Amino acid sequence: MNVLVVGATGRNGMAVVKQLQDQGHHVVATGHNPAKLANIPSVERVVIDLVNEDVSTLVKKLPQNIDALIFTAGASQARPQDAVWIDLDGAVKMMDVARQLDIPQFIMESAAGAGSRSTFDVYDIPLYYVTKYYAERILKSSGLTYTIVRPAILTDQAPTRTASLANNVPQISRTDVAEVLVDALMNDNFKNKAFDLFAGTTPLQLLEPK
Ligand SMILES: NC(=O)c1ccc[n+]([C@@H]2O[C@H](COP(=O)([O-])OP(=O)(O)OC[C@H]3O[C@@H](n4cnc5c(N)ncnc54)[C@H](OP(=O)(O)O)[C@@H]3O)[C@@H](O)[C@H]2O)c1
Repeated sequence: MNVLVVGATGRNGMAVVKQLQDQGHHVVATGHNPAKLANIPSVERVVIDLVNEDVSTLVKKLPQNIDALIFTAGASQARPQDAVWIDLDGAVKMMDVARQLDIPQFIMESAAGAGSRSTFDVYDIPLYYVTKYYAERILKSSGLTYTIVRPAILTDQAPTRTASLANNVPQISRTDVAEVLVDALMNDNFKNKAFDLFAGTTPLQLLEPK
């Protein structure tokens, strides 16, 4: 498939690009930092600014014939005020871009707990969860085929190729999350589903989110 990765220069975005390449997909990698983007080998590269570029500019910059978009961009948790413009408005801009470029499938990396308003005052970064919550709601009503993966705290531990949909362990390996994001391209179990993801023992391809 021809897959657009938004946030390819991020820690998880890079893991997603690697998974896509390992599985033989063509990758259009986007990032904000040109130097970081230039370091990603064997991809088509497009520098974009989700905050300062409008939808028509983004549409003109990106290639045609993209089959799916994986959105892994996000504000630093140290600057949750930026999440309004990246995790929320940036994500919604990319939904508009997807519709205009006829990209049928939109896979979004969100955050564990962000599917419910009950998290807004649980953590010390409520604005971050508000932005994720509303981006998810808008994606679900966008008409695009969606998958929303909400990982727990991301770690650099070795992948186990297993996970859990239930909150037993509040963390998960980035590489395992990347594999689920890429698996969502083809796995019908993940289509039009939104689910939290934790470390666990179920093989990734056998996860069955409701
Ligand atoms: N870290 C965690 O524990 C955790 C847990 C659950 C969910 N998440 C979510 O998972 C996702 C990936 O996390 P991560 O740790 O891999 O993030 P990260 O390393 O901080 O990467 C963020 C990405 O967003 C891009 N970006 C930032 N501002 C942009 C802009 N104005 N225009 C275009 N792109 C922009 C960055 O581009 P440049 O690098 O090129 O500037 C980078 O590619 C995020 O949505 C995060 O909220 C994280």
